[in-house]
Amino acid sequence: MCGIVGYVGKNNAVPVILSGLYKLEYRGYDSAGIAVIENEALKVIKTKGRIKDLDEKIRSYGEINTNCAIGHTRWATHGAPSDVNSHPHISKNGRIAIVHNGIIENFLELREMLEAKGFEFVSQTDTEVVAHLFELNYKGNALEALQDTTKQLRGSYAIGVVTADAPSEIVCARKDNPLIIGIGEGENILGSDIPAIIGTTKNYIILNDNETARVTCEGVEVYNALGDNVSKEIHVVDWDISAAEKGGYEHFMMKEICEQAKAVKDTLSPRITKLLPNMSETKLSPEMFKNVRNIHIVACGSALYAGLVGKHIIEKLARIPCLANVASEFRYNDPIIDENDLCIVVSQSGETADTLAAMREAKKRGAKTLAIVNVVGSSAAREADSVLYTWAGPEIAVATTKAYSAQLSAMYLVAVYAAMSKGILTEEMAMGYCKEIMDLPELIDEVIKTREQVQYLASIYSNRSSTFFIGRGIDYAAAQEASLKLKEISYVHSEAYAAGELKHGTISLIEDGTLVVALANDDDVYEKTLSNIKSVKARGANVILVTNKNVTADPEICDHVIKIPKTIAELSASLSIVPMQLLAYYIGVYRGCDIDMPRNLAKSVTVE
Ligand code: F6R
Repeated sequence: MCGIVGYVGKNNAVPVILSGLYKLEYRGYDSAGIAVIENEALKVIKTKGRIKDLDEKIRSYGEINTNCAIGHTRWATHGAPSDVNSHPHISKNGRIAIVHNGIIENFLELREMLEAKGFEFVSQTDTEVVAHLFELNYKGNALEALQDTTKQLRGSYAIGVVTADAPSEIVCARKDNPLIIGIGEGENILGSDIPAIIGTTKNYIILNDNETARVTCEGVEVYNALGDNVSKEIHVVDWDISAAEKGGYEHFMMKEICEQAKAVKDTLSPRITKLLPNMSETKLSPEMFKNVRNIHIVACGSALYAGLVGKHIIEKLARIPCLANVASEFRYNDPIIDENDLCIVVSQSGETADTLAAMREAKKRGAKTLAIVNVVGSSAAREADSVLYTWAGPEIAVATTKAYSAQLSAMYLVAVYAAMSKGILTEEMAMGYCKEIMDLPELIDEVIKTREQVQYLASIYSNRSSTFFIGRGIDYAAAQEASLKLKEISYVHSEAYAAGELKHGTISLIEDGTLVVALANDDDVYEKTLSNIKSVKARGANVILVTNKNVTADPEICDHVIKIPKTIAELSASLSIVPMQLLAYYIGVYRGCDIDMPRNLAKSVTVE
């Protein structure tokens, strides 16, 4: 979704902003822009399209020398992608420029009020009201104007403002949308996330909801909702800029697929001591699980599918009823959840609006909350009662791979810990599970070796217009993630089905040449899945079987076998998903798709 960068400091701000915007590309966007203060005048350059288009447009203006600028990537919500709807937006007097992420819910009523006062609107965006409202509130002090403005806004925002009156100052505010401020020496930089600022500094503060800040070369002042100056903890980024670069891979997605063993190992290692789960760094306690009535997992997209695997393993090992809920539905469904329940939110970014809203609803109803989250200091991490970080490192490709795998690992740990807390697993049994879990990174590296075979299969099937992924139990949960990966990366229609459910209607869609990918890694239901596979094969489907069994292609069952290593069934999604990610990747490549930035998608979905 939209991204913000703002720089004020000793260097020319333009290259810093452009480099920050390039780093934010992965969030998804359709237009971009920059506002600079040069010789005490405001200049705004913006365009529909990519950062490189903006880069070229800026060059066409000749050399710009300024020590203060703000930049933006826009992901259209109100108004189509266009030059005029791009940010920054300018106030009526042309002396104030603003960038905004989020949605201003009362923009129509504000727009009417401003129009009645003679303000004219040139765009269809909700953001333009903020620029004019700011001008209305401006009495010579930008920070005060911003504080007055935000009091009149309903909705979510991260806002950055520059004014021609104060050419070396940026003011900013945040509510329900991430904003961090990098603290450098003689330079400071704001950004929507760490990749945008890491080229300037590794030290940063996190702006909280309803806080505002004044950023100059000399320093950063932060104020709370009451207008009191507050001191902030300085965080230090613990990864290097190279972690957010491609490192020789053609796409971030492939790099991140190949980094999965490390992501899983880094997530597991600090939490397994003497082959038992060690949750001392979280606020989880055995009592919490001993007495819990239900577990509600809430998440979106792939994180939800990681939650589905979590549901299986928690119910199997700990015998606690567990629901995996679509976060955007959860809070509107009057959920049955209270102080006897635990809500687990799963999120890579920790900023997904639907997930945060669901977590807040669960909290409001008294439930305890645990966040399984990748981005340190994100909203989910700060608001949950306990946090279990997935140490996947920065994930840049829009389609998640390594963060999903790390989420599965965190789920396994929670399941074993819960089962021990309830006395269902003895120490010895728990050690057995932990041993299998600790073996996963090595096995994941083993599955990556299917890469060439999968590339070959992708070359055969990249022209198919529809694909089905089928499986039972954990395999069905993994099939859902596999199907989402294919859709988002290659734009091929696909569906995931419980293998036994196809015959209740959907099998009518199977015809000669339909691609069916069948996942069968659970001995208990292997034979049953085989019968379902035979029924699609008999109707002309081309079948790829993904299994840990020693089988070969058989004309009655499947055209190809992707063999994966054996682990216990509950953990098999960690292995079966890897060739599925590779399949989506290569089909996307063969179809000429934009792998790291698929159309219409955003990395962090901060609107409902
Ligand atoms: C798919 C994908 C999305 C995210 C979803 C939740 O590849 O990345 O489906 O999983 O938008 O995002 P987070 O995990 O940041 O809450």
